[in-house]
Amino acid sequence: MFSKRIRNVQPSATVQLANKVKRLKKQGLDIISFTLGEPDFPTPKHIVDAAKDALDNGMTHYAQSNGMPELREAISDHIKPKNGIHADPEDIMIMPTKFALYAAIQTLISKGEQVIFQNPGWVSYGPMVTMANGTPVPVKMSYEDGWNWNPEDIRSHVTPRTRAIILNTPSNPTGSVIPEETLRAIGDLAEEKDLIIISDEVYENLVYDVEHFSIGSIDKIKDRVVTVSGFSKSYAMTGWRVGWMVGKKEIMRMVNKLQQHSITCLPPFIQMGAVAALKCGNQCILDMRDEFQQRRDLLIPLLNEIPGVSCEVPQGAFYAFFKMDLGFKSMDLAEMLLYKSHVALTPGSAFGSAGDEFMRMSYASSRENLIEGVKRIGDFVKSLEKGKEL
Ligand SMILES: Cc1ncc(COP(=O)(O)O)c(C=O)c1O
Repeated sequence: MFSKRIRNVQPSATVQLANKVKRLKKQGLDIISFTLGEPDFPTPKHIVDAAKDALDNGMTHYAQSNGMPELREAISDHIKPKNGIHADPEDIMIMPTKFALYAAIQTLISKGEQVIFQNPGWVSYGPMVTMANGTPVPVKMSYEDGWNWNPEDIRSHVTPRTRAIILNTPSNPTGSVIPEETLRAIGDLAEEKDLIIISDEVYENLVYDVEHFSIGSIDKIKDRVVTVSGFSKSYAMTGWRVGWMVGKKEIMRMVNKLQQHSITCLPPFIQMGAVAALKCGNQCILDMRDEFQQRRDLLIPLLNEIPGVSCEVPQGAFYAFFKMDLGFKSMDLAEMLLYKSHVALTPGSAFGSAGDEFMRMSYASSRENLIEGVKRIGDFVKSLEKGKEL
């Protein structure tokens, strides 16, 4: 009854878990959830007001399929100084960020072609490649190595069938930021082996102590890079479903066909909200980022005090990806923590085989929640130890 394409993929572990938590909360359980990756701040008022004005002014019909010129121009102006990417408005497509990644993969990957990405890495890359009839090739990073992605490990996975590398910096789930030097080495490899790079930079504004570098700014490889980013994480706009893709015109023209035959366009009032986000400076981004940084600095030492838990300080995004060395698989630990201690964490195995001893905790949550959550995790570990003694 169902296509092989859809039968071959599993549901999103993170979305499923969030749904389960919602169900349990509805039943009256006092669960603190650290599962979903979204800022807990409201969307800044000036953005909401711009979208309301657009609605009041009748912007309720179809827009251009590749995005409204105002928004593409604003993105073109924004990414030149910020990312060092010199793109005309025609080199930009407006799409929900996740859909932009899906569309890039559908457009660029043919049956049987291999696509390399980080392991642990974001839950959707593998299924997206599978849905394009490609072959996912997750390449491991290790905690001991600071979750650095080693270009030589990537090289050793390149075969004649390799078509693309997807990279994610800052990374979900590890919070690691790929240094410029490594990105340049990956760029050289892509040039040598004639590969495409899909660079997912949706957390680009959430970096602490380090600089974000866009691989699409490297001139000699810019035509083989598709950069994807968006408003969700930087401006607390996850529900607006708006982001962008930048790349050479020929690729954008092909992606636009996919947009035209699927979602048509993004709602114009949403796009006007996005224009307001870009035009109003970045103070609101900085305020949210500072708050995330303070929460990170509160959370990581508390986690490291729990016996069996170890967590390096993440340099970006808003996730602590910590090792929980208690002799259980991460999925079992997640279930036990949820049902016994009423704290919801995402099991590291959702992000690939290299994540299985780890748990992901989003710190896009209030300080009170973080403190209470860590206390519950600590009490859970103590109860396990007591159980062993008995
Ligand atoms: C690494 C990564 N890429 C892309 C996305 C998709 O972002 P959006 O919700 O804006 O589509 C997410 C969302 O969680 C993510 O974590």
